[in-house]
Amino acid sequence: MTVFDSDIDSVLITQEQIQEKIRALGAEITSDYEGRDLLLVGVLKGAFVLMADLSRHIHLPLEFDFMAVSSYGAATQTSGVVRILKDLDHEIAGRDVLIVEDIVDSGLTLNYLLKNLRTRKPATLEVCALMQKPEAQEVPLDIKYPGFEIPSVFVVGYGLDYAERYRNLPYVGTLRAEVYSDAAS
Ligand code: IMP
Ligand code: MG
Repeated sequence: MTVFDSDIDSVLITQEQIQEKIRALGAEITSDYEGRDLLLVGVLKGAFVLMADLSRHIHLPLEFDFMAVSSYGAATQTSGVVRILKDLDHEIAGRDVLIVEDIVDSGLTLNYLLKNLRTRKPATLEVCALMQKPEAQEVPLDIKYPGFEIPSVFVVGYGLDYAERYRNLPYVGTLRAEVYSDAAS
């Protein structure tokens, strides 16, 4: 039990399902990049939980970097506008780079990031995304390491927030309608 459980309407992905998926993704990444040095790029803030868990299932010499981009703020609708709030600390030219993203909704954020990072000439550039909302996706994206497909609903937990809360839930779920109406009043 967590203190937030009473705010949750339904659990879409359980803690066990997430951990099992991450173990499988980690094993796949480990074998695909064998003998190479991989740079994981996490997209803040949502990806920090996935980054921590996934990286411990990747048995390779890893380096870590993070980017922060503007997304929803406190609302639940995408703006389509992407702004870099924090850029990478390191050069990625010639590096094997794997972007770690919590969720792909419209895909606009990731699309922008991929274009931006490609101009810096990494040796390889791939994506691991824990969740995708296929019905909401507006741009085609090649996600080499996909986790779960979910319906086009707003979810929280496992790094994802509503008004900066719920990121520490170990599972992914939807919020009860009262949570939104309480926040608006
Ligand atoms: P996109 O640009 O529409 O693909 O949005 C991507 C970003 O929006 C994600 O990295 C999340 O930070 C945020 N986001 C998208 N869907 C959700 C959701 O259901 N809950 C919380 N955040 C979300
Ligand atoms: Mg995000």
